[in-house]
Amino acid sequence: MTISPDVIRHIATVTRPRRETLNGHRSVNLWFTGLSGSGKSTLAHAIEEQLHQQGKRTYVFDGDNVRHGLCGDLGFSLPERRENLRRIAEMTNLFLDAGVISLTAFISPMAADRARIREIIGPDDFIEVYCNCSLEICEQRDVKGLYKRAREGTIKNYTGISSPYEPPVNPDIELRTDTQPLMECVTIVMDALRTRGVIFE
Ligand code: ADX
Repeated sequence: MTISPDVIRHIATVTRPRRETLNGHRSVNLWFTGLSGSGKSTLAHAIEEQLHQQGKRTYVFDGDNVRHGLCGDLGFSLPERRENLRRIAEMTNLFLDAGVISLTAFISPMAADRARIREIIGPDDFIEVYCNCSLEICEQRDVKGLYKRAREGTIKNYTGISSPYEPPVNPDIELRTDTQPLMECVTIVMDALRTRGVIFE
């Protein structure tokens, strides 16, 4: 990324630590990765619901909403996915600064792109959650009917069918979203937030 030499950052007096103190919790990013239909968004929203009920500041980004707006100009080639994820990672940084717990649900299929995201966000603020669900189950669920169309060839570059998914080797959290019940997965992530000192109750 080129950075304009003529742009000088304004130093804010209201800082991230002050916002975190006001909120009563730390900000962090939970990054959900997995095949389409693996339950990333469902899980992100279920965790957000719990956090919200506890009075925490949260926001969910997912491929299906962001790709209609911020990333509406991008398709599904590997370079376009990389750019999609870079924008989200930068957006996540702003939300970290804003004191918010962001939950980002994107296929994010390539290991190198996820490594770059970890670098942009910073390892202390990035929690990678692998939603491990077999392709067979995702395809059976086919909530949006896109797997069927990918098999028919009317959608190109479909993850798992005609475009790769590289499973994380060492994710911070791995969930079997094809066999573990949703609430069990929610509890695992909530416990991890407590262990990391993001939330205190
Ligand atoms: S990512 O690869 O760049 O991380 P992202 O999570 O934003 O993907 O978008 C995935 C969503 O876009 C899927 O859940 C699906 O609904 C839709 N989609 C449309 N075309 C494709 C495609 N070729 N591959 C994967 N998902 C697609």
